[in-house]
Amino acid sequence: MAAPVGSPIPDQEFYQPVFSPWLGYGAFTAVFDEVRPFTLVSADRCHVLYSLAIQAAGLTGQWYECGVYRGGTAMLLAHVLRTHQWEAWDADTRLHLFDTFEGMPETDPREDRHSKGDFADSSADLVRRRLDAINPGLVDIHKGLIPETFAGLEAHRIAFAHIDVDIYRSVVDCCAFVYPRMTPGGFMVFDDYGFPTCPGARKAVDAFFADKPENPLVLPTGQAVVFKTP
Ligand SMILES: C[S@@+](CC[C@H](N)C(=O)[O-])C[C@H]1O[C@@H](n2cnc3c(N)ncnc32)[C@H](O)[C@@H]1O
Repeated sequence: MAAPVGSPIPDQEFYQPVFSPWLGYGAFTAVFDEVRPFTLVSADRCHVLYSLAIQAAGLTGQWYECGVYRGGTAMLLAHVLRTHQWEAWDADTRLHLFDTFEGMPETDPREDRHSKGDFADSSADLVRRRLDAINPGLVDIHKGLIPETFAGLEAHRIAFAHIDVDIYRSVVDCCAFVYPRMTPGGFMVFDDYGFPTCPGARKAVDAFFADKPENPLVLPTGQAVVFKTP
Protein backbone atom coordinates (compact mmCIF):
# COMPACT_ATOMS: atom_id res chain seq x y z
CA MET A 1 0.00 0.00 0.00
CA ALA A 2 1.34 3.45 -0.84
CA ALA A 3 2.36 5.66 2.11
CA PRO A 4 -0.23 8.34 2.84
CA VAL A 5 0.51 11.71 1.30
CA GLY A 6 2.33 13.86 3.82
CA SER A 7 3.85 10.99 5.86
CA PRO A 8 7.61 11.25 6.45
CA ILE A 9 9.89 9.85 3.75
CA PRO A 10 12.34 7.28 5.19
CA ASP A 11 15.80 8.90 5.52
CA GLN A 12 14.23 12.25 4.67
CA GLU A 13 17.35 14.21 5.67
CA PHE A 14 19.24 12.72 2.73
CA TYR A 15 16.75 13.99 0.11
CA GLN A 16 18.57 17.15 -0.93
CA PRO A 17 16.58 17.39 -3.16
CA VAL A 18 16.95 13.76 -4.37
CA PHE A 19 18.33 10.87 -2.29
CA SER A 20 22.02 11.75 -1.75
CA PRO A 21 23.66 8.98 0.28
CA TRP A 22 27.10 10.63 0.07
CA LEU A 23 25.81 13.17 2.63
CA GLY A 24 26.20 10.64 5.43
CA TYR A 25 24.07 7.57 4.76
CA GLY A 26 25.24 4.00 5.30
CA ALA A 27 28.66 2.32 5.41
CA PHE A 28 30.17 4.81 2.96
CA THR A 29 30.17 7.53 5.61
CA ALA A 30 32.85 6.04 7.87
CA VAL A 31 35.05 5.20 4.86
CA PHE A 32 34.76 8.70 3.44
CA ASP A 33 35.46 10.30 6.84
CA GLU A 34 38.75 8.35 6.93
CA VAL A 35 39.88 9.20 3.39
CA ARG A 36 38.63 12.80 3.21
CA PRO A 37 41.87 14.39 4.58
CA PHE A 38 43.90 12.66 1.84
CA THR A 39 41.80 13.29 -1.28
CA LEU A 40 40.82 16.08 -3.62
CA VAL A 41 37.79 14.06 -4.70
CA SER A 42 34.44 15.24 -3.34
CA ALA A 43 31.98 13.06 -1.42
CA ASP A 44 29.59 12.60 -4.36
CA ARG A 45 32.44 11.48 -6.67
CA CYS A 46 33.86 9.20 -3.98
CA HIS A 47 30.40 7.65 -3.62
CA VAL A 48 30.31 6.89 -7.36
CA LEU A 49 33.74 5.30 -7.08
CA TYR A 50 32.73 3.33 -3.98
CA SER A 51 29.52 2.00 -5.57
CA LEU A 52 31.19 0.91 -8.81
CA ALA A 53 34.12 -0.62 -6.92
CA ILE A 54 31.78 -2.80 -4.86
CA GLN A 55 30.38 -4.26 -8.08
CA ALA A 56 33.84 -4.68 -9.64
CA ALA A 57 34.99 -6.63 -6.55
CA GLY A 58 33.16 -9.61 -8.05
CA LEU A 59 35.22 -9.56 -11.25
CA THR A 60 38.53 -11.18 -12.06
CA GLY A 61 41.38 -8.80 -12.79
CA GLN A 62 43.82 -6.25 -11.45
CA TRP A 63 42.81 -2.89 -10.01
CA TYR A 64 44.50 0.28 -11.27
CA GLU A 65 44.58 3.83 -10.02
CA CYS A 66 46.39 6.29 -12.29
CA GLY A 67 46.77 9.59 -10.41
CA VAL A 68 47.13 8.92 -6.68
CA TYR A 69 48.48 12.16 -5.16
CA ARG A 70 48.14 11.72 -1.35
CA GLY A 71 46.29 8.41 -1.65
CA GLY A 72 42.71 9.23 -0.61
CA THR A 73 40.78 7.52 -3.41
CA ALA A 74 43.24 4.61 -3.34
CA MET A 75 42.43 4.20 0.37
CA LEU A 76 38.73 4.08 -0.50
CA LEU A 77 39.37 1.32 -3.07
CA ALA A 78 41.46 -0.59 -0.51
CA HIS A 79 38.54 -0.42 1.93
CA VAL A 80 36.17 -1.87 -0.66
CA LEU A 81 38.60 -4.68 -1.42
CA ARG A 82 38.90 -5.48 2.29
CA THR A 83 35.16 -5.64 2.87
CA HIS A 84 33.76 -6.89 -0.45
CA GLN A 85 36.18 -9.46 -1.83
CA TRP A 86 34.19 -12.37 -3.17
CA GLU A 87 35.22 -15.99 -2.75
CA ALA A 88 36.30 -15.93 -6.39
CA TRP A 89 38.96 -13.31 -5.55
CA ASP A 90 42.24 -14.14 -7.23
CA ALA A 91 45.13 -14.09 -4.73
CA ASP A 92 47.38 -12.52 -7.41
CA THR A 93 45.19 -9.45 -7.68
CA ARG A 94 46.70 -6.17 -6.46
CA LEU A 95 45.72 -2.54 -6.35
CA HIS A 96 48.32 -0.92 -8.65
CA LEU A 97 49.03 2.75 -7.96
CA PHE A 98 50.65 4.90 -10.66
CA ASP A 99 51.97 8.40 -9.99
CA THR A 100 55.17 10.39 -10.15
CA PHE A 101 54.51 11.26 -6.48
CA GLU A 102 56.48 14.40 -7.42
CA GLY A 103 53.68 16.28 -9.13
CA MET A 104 52.43 16.80 -12.65
CA PRO A 105 54.80 16.09 -15.51
CA GLU A 106 55.20 18.52 -18.41
CA THR A 107 51.77 19.80 -19.49
CA ASP A 108 50.58 21.14 -22.86
CA PRO A 109 49.32 24.73 -22.60
CA ARG A 110 47.15 24.18 -25.70
CA GLU A 111 45.23 21.37 -23.94
CA ASP A 112 45.71 21.72 -20.18
CA ARG A 113 45.23 24.21 -17.39
CA HIS A 114 47.57 22.46 -14.97
CA SER A 115 51.30 23.15 -14.78
CA LYS A 116 54.33 20.99 -14.28
CA GLY A 117 54.86 20.33 -10.55
CA ASP A 118 51.21 20.73 -9.47
CA PHE A 119 50.38 18.18 -6.69
CA ALA A 120 54.07 17.78 -5.77
CA ASP A 121 53.29 17.67 -2.02
CA SER A 122 52.97 13.90 -2.01
CA SER A 123 55.03 10.91 -0.94
CA ALA A 124 54.97 7.31 -2.14
CA ASP A 125 56.15 6.12 1.29
CA LEU A 126 53.34 7.87 3.12
CA VAL A 127 50.78 6.56 0.62
CA ARG A 128 52.09 3.02 1.09
CA ARG A 129 51.82 3.35 4.87
CA ARG A 130 48.23 4.65 4.63
CA LEU A 131 47.27 1.78 2.34
CA ASP A 132 49.02 -0.91 4.39
CA ALA A 133 47.13 0.26 7.47
CA ILE A 134 43.86 -0.55 5.68
CA ASN A 135 44.69 -3.62 3.63
CA PRO A 136 48.26 -4.91 4.17
CA GLY A 137 50.07 -6.23 1.11
CA LEU A 138 47.37 -5.12 -1.34
CA VAL A 139 49.20 -2.36 -3.21
CA ASP A 140 51.94 -2.29 -5.80
CA ILE A 141 53.26 1.24 -6.15
CA HIS A 142 54.58 2.18 -9.60
CA LYS A 143 56.39 5.45 -8.98
CA GLY A 144 57.38 7.40 -12.07
CA LEU A 145 56.02 8.64 -15.33
CA ILE A 146 53.00 7.10 -17.04
CA PRO A 147 53.26 5.43 -19.59
CA GLU A 148 56.83 4.30 -18.72
CA THR A 149 55.58 2.69 -15.49
CA PHE A 150 53.20 0.42 -17.45
CA ALA A 151 56.21 -1.44 -18.89
CA GLY A 152 56.29 -5.09 -17.85
CA LEU A 153 52.56 -5.17 -16.99
CA GLU A 154 51.35 -6.05 -20.50
CA ALA A 155 49.92 -9.41 -19.40
CA HIS A 156 47.52 -7.80 -16.90
CA ARG A 157 43.77 -8.15 -17.14
CA ILE A 158 42.13 -5.17 -15.42
CA ALA A 159 38.76 -5.25 -13.62
CA PHE A 160 38.67 -1.68 -12.35
CA ALA A 161 40.57 1.47 -13.32
CA HIS A 162 40.30 4.87 -11.69
CA ILE A 163 41.94 7.39 -13.99
CA ASP A 164 42.54 10.72 -12.27
CA VAL A 165 45.51 12.27 -14.09
CA ASP A 166 43.89 15.56 -15.20
CA ILE A 167 45.93 16.27 -18.35
CA TYR A 168 45.53 15.37 -22.01
CA ARG A 169 48.69 13.34 -22.66
CA SER A 170 48.37 11.31 -19.46
CA VAL A 171 44.71 10.43 -20.13
CA VAL A 172 45.59 9.38 -23.70
CA ASP A 173 48.40 7.15 -22.40
CA CYS A 174 46.16 5.59 -19.72
CA CYS A 175 43.40 4.82 -22.22
CA ALA A 176 45.84 3.27 -24.67
CA PHE A 177 47.25 0.88 -22.07
CA VAL A 178 44.25 0.15 -19.85
CA TYR A 179 41.33 -0.16 -22.27
CA PRO A 180 42.56 -3.18 -24.29
CA ARG A 181 43.22 -5.03 -21.02
CA MET A 182 39.84 -4.43 -19.40
CA THR A 183 37.86 -7.46 -18.23
CA PRO A 184 34.42 -7.54 -19.88
CA GLY A 185 32.01 -6.05 -17.36
CA GLY A 186 34.78 -3.97 -15.74
CA PHE A 187 34.81 -0.19 -15.37
CA MET A 188 37.04 2.74 -16.22
CA VAL A 189 36.19 5.80 -14.12
CA PHE A 190 37.56 9.16 -15.33
CA ASP A 191 37.48 11.55 -12.39
CA ASP A 192 38.16 14.83 -14.14
CA TYR A 193 36.27 14.43 -17.43
CA GLY A 194 33.89 17.36 -16.95
CA PHE A 195 36.00 19.78 -14.98
CA PRO A 196 36.72 23.18 -16.51
CA THR A 197 40.22 22.86 -15.06
CA CYS A 198 40.82 19.72 -17.13
CA PRO A 199 39.61 20.30 -20.71
CA GLY A 200 42.34 18.00 -22.04
CA ALA A 201 40.91 15.06 -20.09
CA ARG A 202 37.53 15.27 -21.83
CA LYS A 203 39.16 15.76 -25.21
CA ALA A 204 41.32 12.67 -24.70
CA VAL A 205 38.41 10.46 -23.57
CA ASP A 206 36.11 11.60 -26.36
CA ALA A 207 38.76 11.06 -29.03
CA PHE A 208 39.74 7.64 -27.69
CA PHE A 209 36.22 6.25 -27.47
CA ALA A 210 34.96 7.77 -30.74
CA ASP A 211 35.67 4.52 -32.59
CA LYS A 212 35.00 2.09 -29.71
CA PRO A 213 31.75 0.26 -28.92
CA GLU A 214 31.64 1.78 -25.42
CA ASN A 215 30.00 5.16 -24.92
CA PRO A 216 31.32 7.08 -21.87
CA LEU A 217 28.53 7.82 -19.39
CA VAL A 218 28.92 11.46 -18.33
CA LEU A 219 27.78 12.08 -14.75
CA PRO A 220 26.65 15.33 -13.12
CA THR A 221 29.58 14.91 -10.71
CA GLY A 222 32.06 15.67 -13.53
CA GLN A 223 33.13 12.03 -13.83
CA ALA A 224 32.69 9.81 -16.87
CA VAL A 225 32.35 6.02 -16.64
CA VAL A 226 33.12 3.44 -19.30
CA PHE A 227 31.58 -0.02 -18.88
CA LYS A 228 33.65 -2.51 -20.87
CA THR A 229 31.38 -4.47 -23.17
CA PRO A 230 31.55 -8.30 -23.19
C1 LIG B 1 44.33 15.19 -9.14
S1 LIG B 1 45.72 14.30 -8.64
C2 LIG B 1 45.02 12.73 -8.12
C3 LIG B 1 44.05 12.88 -6.98
C4 LIG B 1 43.81 11.63 -6.13
N1 LIG B 1 43.18 10.56 -6.87
C5 LIG B 1 43.04 11.97 -4.87
O1 LIG B 1 42.43 11.06 -4.26
O2 LIG B 1 43.09 13.14 -4.43
C6 LIG B 1 46.48 13.93 -10.18
C7 LIG B 1 47.77 13.14 -10.07
O3 LIG B 1 48.12 12.65 -11.37
C8 LIG B 1 49.53 12.52 -11.42
N2 LIG B 1 49.93 12.41 -12.86
C9 LIG B 1 49.44 13.10 -13.91
N3 LIG B 1 50.05 12.70 -15.04
C10 LIG B 1 50.94 11.74 -14.70
C11 LIG B 1 51.87 10.92 -15.44
N4 LIG B 1 52.01 11.03 -16.78
N5 LIG B 1 52.63 10.04 -14.76
C12 LIG B 1 52.50 9.90 -13.41
N6 LIG B 1 51.64 10.64 -12.65
C13 LIG B 1 50.87 11.55 -13.29
C14 LIG B 1 50.03 13.76 -10.69
O4 LIG B 1 51.33 13.56 -10.19
C15 LIG B 1 48.98 13.93 -9.57
O5 LIG B 1 49.43 13.37 -8.35
